[in-house]
Amino acid sequence: MPLVPQHIQSLEPYKAGKSIEELRRELNLKKIVKMASNENPMGASPKAVQAMIKSLKDINRYPDPASFNLRSDLAERFDILLNNVITAHGSEGIISVIMRTFMLDDEEALMSEGTFIGFKVLAHSRGTKLVTIPLKDYRYDLNAIADAITDKTKIIYLANPNNPTGNIFTVKEFLGFIKKVPSHVLIIMDEAYFEFAQDDPVYPDSMKYRLDNVITLRTFSKAYGLAGIRVGYGFAHETLIKNLLKVKLPFEPSIPAQAAAIAALQDQDFIDDYIRLNTHSLHSFYDLFDKLGLRFIKSHANFVTLIFESQQRALKLSDDLLKQGVIVRPLTAFGLPNCIRVTTGLQEENEFFVDALKKVL
Ligand SMILES: Cc1ncc(COP(=O)(O)O)c(C=O)c1O
Repeated sequence: MPLVPQHIQSLEPYKAGKSIEELRRELNLKKIVKMASNENPMGASPKAVQAMIKSLKDINRYPDPASFNLRSDLAERFDILLNNVITAHGSEGIISVIMRTFMLDDEEALMSEGTFIGFKVLAHSRGTKLVTIPLKDYRYDLNAIADAITDKTKIIYLANPNNPTGNIFTVKEFLGFIKKVPSHVLIIMDEAYFEFAQDDPVYPDSMKYRLDNVITLRTFSKAYGLAGIRVGYGFAHETLIKNLLKVKLPFEPSIPAQAAAIAALQDQDFIDDYIRLNTHSLHSFYDLFDKLGLRFIKSHANFVTLIFESQQRALKLSDDLLKQGVIVRPLTAFGLPNCIRVTTGLQEENEFFVDALKKVL
């Protein structure tokens, strides 16, 4: 038996978007704008930052393993009970706990192609067989996903809004899908971009339906601007949560992460400002792409995906933008080699991107 198991030897690790530092080292550019990782360009709420600083006096102590205060605040905010809430190191941290809690060796997971790669990496790192269903017109094909369920299917992963396409499936589509999923199959509803989509009446807020085999995941990494501190949360039936809490690393999230998240939840003005900015940015991107004759997917998140006729064209554009100091995300690793994804920025970052795009086109 090899020391490193075969499924780990062949595992392709998650590759994050290029960092500003990396590009500065490579090209020695004066100005660089990163629009590649769907982060909040406004930073984090100053109240969250203050709370983190204040919490530092306690970091010789271990964090509250129950995250009591944060989970209570989340329960109150979303009108559920403490026992229905889990918090951990980002929503990806919770996916990792889900895989460790529920997956048996001969069970399979089911997901779409053209979606968040984090789930794929976590499934493969556990040696789980993953069945993937192609997108249909750049949207989830929920009928095909339901048809692919077998006796071995244990977990279905759905991101809504989806990353990297940015689009959603509707209440009607979600309810139609749910009917076809047996109750012993767990559905992960990854709603990392919930805050950007929640006001659309056709968007299904999955936790509203109180389904026993659905776990809803959300995060402080996107709208709340706290990606660097790693805190995410999940809602589910108390039996699921009780068992997840047994497996979760006891001391995640950290003391500063719990403090930041509690304060961030109180600062609704910060979120509202960012949502407004993002909506404005999306519309200015759409107008620009229309004028330039570029094909794109309308988004319910903080990014837009552009579709090109070939991978070569997409990669060339992304490379040319890099040389202008704009980092965008080519989507080859997401299974969409002819696409690139652009995260919305601050007004001046958007303008810098627009100038660079016009130049390279
Ligand atoms: C759909 C989706 N889920 C989860 C994550 C990871 O979020 P977190 O930082 O909470 O782990 C991302 C980040 O890009 C994402 O796009």
